[in-house]
This record gives sequence, structure tokens and C-alpha cells, in this order.
Amino acid sequence: MKVEVSKNSGFCFGVKRAVDMVLKIQGKSNTIGPLIHNPQVVEDLRKRGIIPVEKVDDIDSSTVILRAHGVSKNIIDELNKKGLKIVDLTCPFVKKVQDYAISLEKQGYFILVIGDKNHPEVEAIVSHLENVTVIAGVEDVSNIGPHDKIGVVVQTTQTAKLFEDTIKELKKVYKEIKICNTICNATAERQEEAVELAKKSDIMIIVGGKNSANTRSLDKLCSAIVETHLIENIGALRKEWFKGKKQVGISAGASTPQHLIDSIEERIKNDF
Ligand code: F3S
Repeated sequence: MKVEVSKNSGFCFGVKRAVDMVLKIQGKSNTIGPLIHNPQVVEDLRKRGIIPVEKVDDIDSSTVILRAHGVSKNIIDELNKKGLKIVDLTCPFVKKVQDYAISLEKQGYFILVIGDKNHPEVEAIVSHLENVTVIAGVEDVSNIGPHDKIGVVVQTTQTAKLFEDTIKELKKVYKEIKICNTICNATAERQEEAVELAKKSDIMIIVGGKNSANTRSLDKLCSAIVETHLIENIGALRKEWFKGKKQVGISAGASTPQHLIDSIEERIKNDF
């Protein structure tokens, strides 16, 4: 059985930056929500004294870390009011989406964010704006309502296809549209490579947190091509999946650590 790992799998630039920087922080600190969407990494960090909390009132250290996906403006305001030391590890590409949207709103555009309205990245973008709505895709376009000028940004981890299809639909309805394609290249590259690997594989294993949007996107894209399993850890692998399979493909979300990908590759090669 041949096992191939997709070239671009595991930590993306923003996640690697956040994890590298967080490891330099001395002493106890808190993150609002998990630093990145990977349960194993979050547990490792907890052991080092970096404790995720649900809300500002739960903070019990003097240093607060802002996660890679960004944090809502009202939370940042609360942290500042409490006089806490803020270490901002928001990915620069996520920050860029916020900046584009703020700038377009200042120019009089009504902002559309294409993405998952419950995702922390989208919540953070929306928190900086007043004239804004979130749409999941083509199906929501007819509910937006009339606007003279619309400015469009997109959650960094959405697929190019969803973005293009939605823009096509928006152009049928609105005359003046300013479009910022803020999909992160790391996501697009990862998706393209995973799809190519899925096409030549008998089975795909996607490694990553089930709470990670980009991991779920990989799962969805590959599932449309071949039998695909999304797993968070090595214990989730099942021997029977590999019966009669000749080519196994592995891809991983942007918040999946390399050591986890390596150990899963080794287990499949040696034990199945
Ligand atoms: Fe940043 Fe792109 Fe990763 S937006 S957190 S580098 S997926």
C-alpha cells in the first residue's frame, strides 16, 4: 500500500507564527477561546500554563493572548478596560480582512462577509462594522435587500468555488460592487493539492480538529471524490478502512501539528 502526504499539510503561516510566539511567553496566561482549532495543541499549551477561557470574566492572569482567528472588538475593549497585557497573535491575513472591510465601510459601502456567521474570524470582522451582513453563499443573496454600493470580503478559509459562485449571483442583483478576495492562499493551495491527491487515491485521511473550518473544507472537497475520513487523532484510525486499498492519501488542516501527521503516516504504513 502506497501512502502519500499532501505537500501543503499542517500548520499554515498564521498558526505557526501564533504557536511559535506563544511559546516565548513566560508565566501563566489566558487565551479567549482556543488559540488555534486543534484540541491536542490546545492541551499541550494548557500544560505550559496557557489556559483558554470562555469569557473575559474568567481570566485569572495578567496576560491575555488574542488567537490567530482574531477576537471581537467588544472583547478587546473589555480587556483594555481591565488594564490587562494583550499579546495579539491574530494572523496578519485575518487582520487584512478586517482592515479591508473597515475601509470599504468608511467609503460608504454596505459590507457583505461571505462565510460562516458563527465562526470566530467572521464574528471578529463583523464586530468592527455597523453596516454589514454575513452570507453563507448563493442561497442567501436574495435575502440581503437593496443597497446602492456593496463591498464584499470573504472568510479566509472559504473555497474559491463558493466565493466565485456567490460573486456571480451578487453581480446579477447589484450594480456597484467592490470585491476583495480575502481567501488565504495557504487554504487554496492546501485544497487544490488535497483534491489532486484524492483523485489518485483509493482513500483519503484528513487529519485535524473537527472544530477547524479549513479541515472540514478539506474533508468536504475530498469526500466528493473518494472515500474520506476526518480524524482528530491516531486512535481514530480503523484497520478495516484500508482493506483492498492500494493508494492512501493524507492531508491535514492548517492547525494540525506536523508530529501528528507523521505518526498517522507511520501507523498506516506499518500497521495496516
Ligand atoms: Fe492565516 Fe491563512 Fe492560516 S489566514 S491563520 S495563514 S489559513
